[in-house]
Amino acid sequence: MREKNVAIAGATGAVGTEMIKVLEDLNFPVKNLRLLASERSVGKKLKFKNEEIPVEKLDKDSFKNIDIALFSAGASRSLEFAKYAVDAGAVVIDNSSAFRMNDDVPLVVPEVNPEKVKEHKGIIANPNCSTIQMVVALYPIHKVAKIKRIIVSTYQAVSGTGMKAIEELKRQIEQIRNNEKVTCEVYPHQIAYNVLPHVDVFLENGYTKEEMKMVNETRKIMNDYSIQVTATTVRVPVIRAHSESINIELEKKLTANEVREILSKAPGIIVQDEPSKNIYPLAIYATGKYETFVGRIREDISVKNGIAMWVVADQLLKGAAYNAVQIAQLLL
Ligand code: A2P
Repeated sequence: MREKNVAIAGATGAVGTEMIKVLEDLNFPVKNLRLLASERSVGKKLKFKNEEIPVEKLDKDSFKNIDIALFSAGASRSLEFAKYAVDAGAVVIDNSSAFRMNDDVPLVVPEVNPEKVKEHKGIIANPNCSTIQMVVALYPIHKVAKIKRIIVSTYQAVSGTGMKAIEELKRQIEQIRNNEKVTCEVYPHQIAYNVLPHVDVFLENGYTKEEMKMVNETRKIMNDYSIQVTATTVRVPVIRAHSESINIELEKKLTANEVREILSKAPGIIVQDEPSKNIYPLAIYATGKYETFVGRIREDISVKNGIAMWVVADQLLKGAAYNAVQIAQLLL
C-alpha cells in the first residue's frame, strides 16, 4: 500500500486533534502529515507517533504534494480553501456542512454507502455527527423492513461546538461553584446544569439548521427520499458523545428481538440492551470508542410497526474524525 501525504486543516481543533490520534491508532499509511490551523496556532507543535509536527498557517499554497486533505476548520474555511486542495491534486474529505448536499459530492458513512466514495470529483463530505450515528443504527433495519418515518430527539455534547464550548461548560461550573456571575460566550444561555433546545441557527420553517441536516442528509445517505424525518436537536451539559432517542415506523412488523438480532450482526454497532441490569448505552462509556451503541430497543406501543431505541456514539470519533479516516481508508 503506497503511503500518502496527508494534511489536516483545523488540526488544533476538537475534531482535528482527534483526526491526528485516529490516523495513528488505525496505522493509516501516512508518509508526511501537514498540520494546518489559523495564524494563532503557528508555533505550536502537535504529536503524531513519535514526532512533534509544527502547525502551519492554512493558506492556498498549503496543499502542494498532498494526497488526502482532511478538513475540520469550519464551513467557511472549507468553502474558501477546499478548491485549492483539489486543484493541487488532493482528495478533500470535508467535515463541514459546506458541500454535503451538492449533487456531485458523495456523503459517505462507510457502514452504509461505501460505494459512493468512487463517485467523488475531488471532494467527499463527512455527514453531520448526529446523522452519522443515526444512520449507522437505522440502515441495517431499513434493509430488512423499510423505514417510513423517523422521529428523533438528540442530547448533544458541547464538544460538538468545538474546544471553546468545552471551556465554556467547565468555566460556568466553576463560576457557579464560586458564586460568581455566569458568563455566556458560545451559547445564548447558560449550558451548565441546563438543556438548550437549540443546536445551530433557526430557519424559516421553525426547525434549526442541525435538525434539517438530520432530515436531508439521512435521505441522501440512505438513498431513499421517501423516508419522512422530524428532528428536535438539543444541547446538554455533557462533554462528549451524543445520545439520541429514536422512534421509527416500518413498512412491516419487526419485533424488538428481531431488531436486536439485526443490529447485533451489523457493522460498527454494539448492542447494550439489558435494562433489568441497568445496561444501556451511556455517553461517558461511548467516549473514546469508534462504535455506535444501541439499547432500550422496544416496540413502540403508539403506532403500528413501530420501534423505539436509544443510540449513543462519540460524535468527535464516529461522528467526525473516525468516519473521515474510514473514508480515507476506502480511498486506499
Ligand atoms: P486555531 O486553533 O488556530 O484557531 P474547533 O472546532 O475546536 O473550534 O476548532 C476549529 C479549528 O479550525 C481549529 O484548528 C482552528 O485553528 C481552525 N480555524 C479556525 N479559524 C481558522 C482560520 N481562519 N484559518 C485556519 N484555521 C482556522
